[in-house]
Amino acid sequence: MIQFFDVGKRFGDRVALADVNFKIPRGQFVFLRGPSGAGKTTLLKLIYRAESPSEGQILVNGRNVGSIPKRKVPFLRRTIGVVFQEFSLIERRTVSDNVTYLPRILGERRPERRRLAAEALAKVGLDHLQDAFPAELSGGEQQRVAIARALISRPQILIADEPTGNLDPELSRDIISLFFEINRQGTTVILATHNPSLRRRGRDRILKLESGRLVEDRIMDPISAEDIPVALGPPDPVATR
Ligand SMILES: Nc1ncnc2c1ncn2[C@@H]1O[C@H](COP(=O)(O)OP(=O)(O)O)[C@@H](O)[C@H]1O
Ligand SMILES: [Mg+2]
Repeated sequence: MIQFFDVGKRFGDRVALADVNFKIPRGQFVFLRGPSGAGKTTLLKLIYRAESPSEGQILVNGRNVGSIPKRKVPFLRRTIGVVFQEFSLIERRTVSDNVTYLPRILGERRPERRRLAAEALAKVGLDHLQDAFPAELSGGEQQRVAIARALISRPQILIADEPTGNLDPELSRDIISLFFEINRQGTTVILATHNPSLRRRGRDRILKLESGRLVEDRIMDPISAEDIPVALGPPDPVATR
């Protein structure tokens, strides 16, 4: 569960976010939308504590992330995986070593890291590429490695900031399908994109930011496939069938 209470974020006198309120229950799939500069990246950074709020409170699984000291952030990152537009893989390290970057920092030994890497790579369909180097992979495969790296500690929450920004439309669809699959296994997924044409499914949540304000909060109606406001709630699929 992620909760924002009257959250604001300023950079100097620039307002990046203002009066943001929402709750994301465990297991939801959320598209965070809005044009470039709307505040999407800032909002995500507040969740994984790369920034702290100027106003308001943010709870992740009941913990106030704004007050977590910097040195404890690696432990927060065990519950939150993050994927970016840039894959940021280390070129001279194998896929397996890239994926187990965090376990290495946390002191896991090599045999255990290999096991964890194999498990995470299987989830993204790349278990056969453990010993390859990033330069030997396609863009789509590199993004899958970055996703496996984010999944390494079996996070409850997966955050993706413009994860398809460097991929062509077909590969983008594959990567979105992979996020849907990860979500089906129970992980909360929050995916920020300025691209309004990405594929959606019924019951997915849409949060839309404009100039730092939340201007839309909807869930896709699984029956009509149209958006309905969250305030009304999704229809009961049994009652409407
Ligand atoms: N570190 C920063 N310093 C100053 N301004 C920033 C910083 N990060 C973001 N901003 C500003 O905050 C606003 C929101 O940016 P951002 O969250 O990156 O939007 P988006 O991800 O939707 O494109 C923009 O006006 C941006 O210039
Ligand atoms: Mg951004």
